[in-house]
Amino acid sequence: MRSPLPVSPFRFSLTTEVLFGGNTFATAGDQVRRFGSRPLIVTGKRSARAAGILDRAMEQMPNAIVFDAIDENPDTTVCEQCAAACREHDRDVVLAIGGGSPMDAAKAIAVMARNDAPCAHYFGADKYGKSPLPVVAVPTTAGTGSEVTPYAVLIDPEQRAKRTISGAALFPRAAILDPELTRTMPRHVTVATGLDALSQCMEGIVSRKSTPIGDAIALQGIRRVCEFLPRAANDGGDMEARTEMMCAALLSGIIVAQSGTTLVHGMGYSYTIECGIAHGLANALLLAPLFAHNARIAPDRVATIAEAMGGDATKPGPSVVRALYGLMAQLGVSPAACDHGVTQAQIETFAAEIAKDPYRFRNQIGELNRDDVMRFYSQSLVGSADGAA
Ligand SMILES: [Fe+2]
Repeated sequence: MRSPLPVSPFRFSLTTEVLFGGNTFATAGDQVRRFGSRPLIVTGKRSARAAGILDRAMEQMPNAIVFDAIDENPDTTVCEQCAAACREHDRDVVLAIGGGSPMDAAKAIAVMARNDAPCAHYFGADKYGKSPLPVVAVPTTAGTGSEVTPYAVLIDPEQRAKRTISGAALFPRAAILDPELTRTMPRHVTVATGLDALSQCMEGIVSRKSTPIGDAIALQGIRRVCEFLPRAANDGGDMEARTEMMCAALLSGIIVAQSGTTLVHGMGYSYTIECGIAHGLANALLLAPLFAHNARIAPDRVATIAEAMGGDATKPGPSVVRALYGLMAQLGVSPAACDHGVTQAQIETFAAEIAKDPYRFRNQIGELNRDDVMRFYSQSLVGSADGAA
């Protein structure tokens, strides 16, 4: 057992009540009625309806109004449209069903249901005057952890960037995690969302805002992803793997809620917005280059990750890089961003834009400049990293 990591002053707050387990979705109506009597259901365009989840929700809440227009990576416009419907129909509680996109959108809608300004006004921390409507979150993917975070990450069409609304009142009041709801999740979504959970756990351990509670939770999340994501991807009906991955995603959300994300997410958003790469996969393409760097700045922290991934803690950088590439090979995912449509010209633009934005570096360890960012993108482009065998 490695010696404990040093402890800095920290704050740790999780106000969401978590209900985890098989058939917990059958209690969704009762949970929602704890917070309001006129629910608005926010969901995506297809999967919740196709899987029969929406029908099951309506059976429990016959007076609910449904807004099912949330695309992947929602922007402020669709949230404003839904908030207008929420006010028009005098809704008093929001039930989010789906992946990170509907859950994040639901939080923004809950803010605007009680506050009159356009959505972009609320980017930042605690920018709303009146407390948002209560939100109950039901994830149908296993990766984002949004069900236990106080963040809504949305695309700002004016700035063509992902921006975040945050605030303690945005923690969902309750999260219902029923692994059965992930049974029909397609393989590529299983892989991408699972890699997001891995990324969030790994980033939490090296974040400038890491906490000892978070470190312990994150290591459990990393172990679960390494063991169970290949199983969940290769057999969607493997409910033990589905359950463990839903737990890993929950743990990753608890970490993100406390420690934020680092430059992996900060750089990955460019892959998603400009190249259409799924959020979790975008992060995964950057993990090896960034963690080879992190291993030089914080070797003890990355050593704990190497150990959790089944690698050699005495060689943290190469071990983590090897474990990441091994996991991606198991999943049948190329670690080279060029295989996912990214070009050399694009990464030069991304690096220049990110180097100008200090917000992307707020939790990132080490002093980094544009050349460093460009090096990480270049390595990601070809699927290589410092220390890779
Ligand atoms: Fe994420």
